[in-house]
Amino acid sequence: MHDTLRVVQNPGSSVCVFDPTYANYGNTVKCALPNSHLSYIPALDTASWTYLPDPQQSLDMLQDFCKNGAKSLIIPVPDNPTSQIPSDSFIKAARDIMEDHHGFLILDFAYKALWFDDMPDCYSWSPNQFENLISIHSHSKWLSSLGRRFGWIEAHPNVIKGIEKITESTLLSPDTLHSMATTRFLKKSIKNQTLKSYINSTRMLYKKTAEILIENIEQYLGWNYLIPQGGLYTVCPIPNNENSVTFVERVLKNTGVLMIPGTGFGPSMNHAVRISYGPLCYDNNKIEEGIKKIGKYLSI
Ligand SMILES: Cc1ncc(COP(=O)(O)O)c(C=O)c1O
Repeated sequence: MHDTLRVVQNPGSSVCVFDPTYANYGNTVKCALPNSHLSYIPALDTASWTYLPDPQQSLDMLQDFCKNGAKSLIIPVPDNPTSQIPSDSFIKAARDIMEDHHGFLILDFAYKALWFDDMPDCYSWSPNQFENLISIHSHSKWLSSLGRRFGWIEAHPNVIKGIEKITESTLLSPDTLHSMATTRFLKKSIKNQTLKSYINSTRMLYKKTAEILIENIEQYLGWNYLIPQGGLYTVCPIPNNENSVTFVERVLKNTGVLMIPGTGFGPSMNHAVRISYGPLCYDNNKIEEGIKKIGKYLSI
């Protein structure tokens, strides 16, 4: 993402993101584009706890940011922290707006393989069709290669050339052993036709785990939540509007259960938490155990 932003924007121009969004984008923009800032498009209505309730209003805001010089919009699909996927018509309209302003739509596909229901249209888009489309893929989630910083980018050849220039002077050959292992896995699983079934069974495993988390939130906490449409998380508002950092610390100290404070994901999450079901997809009982403990502690 860092290298891509340096290629497509000049320092000082703003980068559009949703509020909330992936917490790392703030620092990425600071490092890649000095004097640039994030232009937040509100996506989570904290009163009704719904996602993109007024798509046209969000698109109008994007239009205004672009008129003021924004050159890219980053959308994680599915999103972190909300695990939501904007509608096909929304993503298409956002792409058109970026195109009108000679800007880029950057789809962060870190969680692409973990979608739960209908496959989004944008999964089959290509920069060959849309020159202003950039998609960034990662092996972190679907191949459990977190921390390797290993993936690939699809973009117009001029963008790729620019990214190559930057990576030539930063890293030349990332993690050779891991590249070899991934290549071997892909070759083998395509040949014996197990790749598709691996992806399907993995995403269904996460979907089932998400459902278990939601059932437990309803049963033991009674909090609002967003139904995950993919990915590894849901987000919930904190009772009594407590600050998310102090709330998470208090719950952790008293129950041993860790949630993630919402603050880093954007202003809309200052009084909310992200709950991750991903690590417990092989140990669903722990989800019930953890949520039950939180419920018991809060009811004291
Ligand atoms: C939306 C999003 N993009 C990118 C990443 C990081 O991907 P990588 O590990 O390939 O750097 C994450 C990791 O949590 C993420 O949530």
